[in-house]
This record gives sequence, structure tokens and C-alpha cells, in this order.
Amino acid sequence: MASGDSTYSILEHLPEVYEGLSKRLGEKALQERLFKQAQHESEQVFQGKNLFNPDRIPLFYETVRFILKVTGLYNWGHRQFLDLRLITNEVAFEQLPTELDGLRILQISDLHLDLDPELTPVLLNLLQGLEYDLAVVTGDYRDDTKGSITACLKYMEKICKALTPPVYGIMGNHDPIELVPALEEMGLPMLMNETVTFEKNGAKLYLSGIDDPHYYEGHDFDRLRGTVPNGEFSVLLSHAPETHKQAVELGYDFVLTGHTHGGQICLPGGIIVIHNGDCPSYMLAGNWTYKSLKGYTSRGSGGCRLPIRFFCPPEITMHVLRKA
Ligand SMILES: [Fe+2]
Repeated sequence: MASGDSTYSILEHLPEVYEGLSKRLGEKALQERLFKQAQHESEQVFQGKNLFNPDRIPLFYETVRFILKVTGLYNWGHRQFLDLRLITNEVAFEQLPTELDGLRILQISDLHLDLDPELTPVLLNLLQGLEYDLAVVTGDYRDDTKGSITACLKYMEKICKALTPPVYGIMGNHDPIELVPALEEMGLPMLMNETVTFEKNGAKLYLSGIDDPHYYEGHDFDRLRGTVPNGEFSVLLSHAPETHKQAVELGYDFVLTGHTHGGQICLPGGIIVIHNGDCPSYMLAGNWTYKSLKGYTSRGSGGCRLPIRFFCPPEITMHVLRKA
């Protein structure tokens, strides 16, 4: 598949793409995923699980954009949107093998790269020279929840080239399953309810990733059951934090999530006004703990619908794991 015209290549080879995904995920799971995608594409269902969802309001984003431009706030918000920062997040675990003390995991989340072409060069610049043991991308490559995937793939190709393997990705609620083979072709293996192992200094870390739990409900913890041996240190990638209960039940130690964008448009001090998280409010941004599980919700590297942020800077996150 030529990555420069990935969409067309995918469309030309859809039967093979679906056959491969069917073998990998199971025919029933694939058909359910495609059915939910079709529902969202045709807007037969309201998107999301929250009571307030701007997607349900006609011309909501156009109206907000107009108001911000008229009031002169749009450019200010756009500057904050491009103010991408590297956050270092040290997290300590009693159960972390001593050999993995100091392990660095780079997390990028919620890129929505086709929203604003100015974001990709900013992100590429920030990635230059970064050193890490493992990189993960926790979903939302496309801006809209329907339509073309060409533009986001064009930008993702550049990001994939800039990342140092091993790197793994998962799907978000803006990502059709047809993106999986295209991203993998670019060197970003996707974890679709699958587990891989990472080794350093002779110690193992088990890394699992699930399909989007928010719109497409493709997350299948039953497929993950038994993939992490008892007592082994494990990290889960889940696009949204709403899977925390299943993650605890399966004994994961650390979950990396995104989806909420930390509110994206906040009050001074990062106070969240509106959010899309189907989870307790303390899980909407940053570090949190739920029973034995530690989690981190990225504020996202991009934004969606409008290329603006207020009091909620975008981030890429360097998690440094410590032995407690
Ligand atoms: Fe997102």
C-alpha cells in the first residue's frame, strides 16, 4: 500500500482489509464495529454518552467560531491550541520490577491532526531529540467522526516517521477501523484488544490496548483476560478513562487514557466547564487513582472541531515509572 494515497489504497483493497481484520478480531466483532461506524456516519444515533453533547446541536461549532472571531478571542485561543508542551510525569509503583525503575513511556493522544495543518510541524519539532523506552498513541487521529481519512493519514505518516520504536497505538472514538492497516503500514502497530510484551534489563512489562470504548464500544476485556500473567507489571492503553472498573478487575497497574482533552476550553486555572468523559470528574485530566489502579488522562496533543484552547494547554507526556 502506498502511504501517499492511503485512503484510495484502502478503498481499493477493502475486501482484503476486512478479511484481515475479521481473522484478527473475529467476524462478529468486526461486523459490530462496522455497524456502529455506519450508524454514526449516517447520524442515526446521537453520538456520545453524555447528556450535553455539542454534536447534537446544529451549527453549534459554527456559532462558537463566529462569536470568538467577532469578540477577538479566536486568535488568542488558537495560540493556546498550538502551545504544545512536554509534560514529565513521574509515577511510583510498589509492584514495578526494579529493573524497570526509570522506564520512560512517551504518550501522545487525541491528535485530530487534520483539524489544523499548523499542529503537525509543532508536534514534530517537540518530538525531536526526545529519548524514551516506549511510545504510545492513545487514539483520535482524525478530527471529525465521519468522512475522509486521507488528511489525518497524511499527517500521521510524518508523526510515525518521527517516533522511535517500539511504538504502539490504539483507536479512539474518531477513528474508523479502516485506519488500522494504514497506520500499521506506517509503522504504528495497533493494539486491538491485544497484549504485547516489552523487555528491559531482563524484566517484562505487559502492554495491552483496547479498541475504542466510547462510541464504537469495541473494547473487549474478555479477549485480554489471561494475556497478562498474575503478578506481572501491566499497562493498559484505553482511549477513554471510562474503562477503569474493568481495568481494575483484570489487575492492570497503570492505564494511559485521553479523550477528554482536559476540557479543551476551560476557565482560568484549568477548571473544566464542559467535558465528554463518561467517568468520575477526577479522572478528566492528569493523574488519578481508582482502587489499586493508577491512571493518567492526557489533556491531548491536539483538539477537536475548533483549533482553539483556553486555559488548557495541549501536551505530550513523558511518563517516568519509578519503583516505590
Ligand atoms: Fe479526542
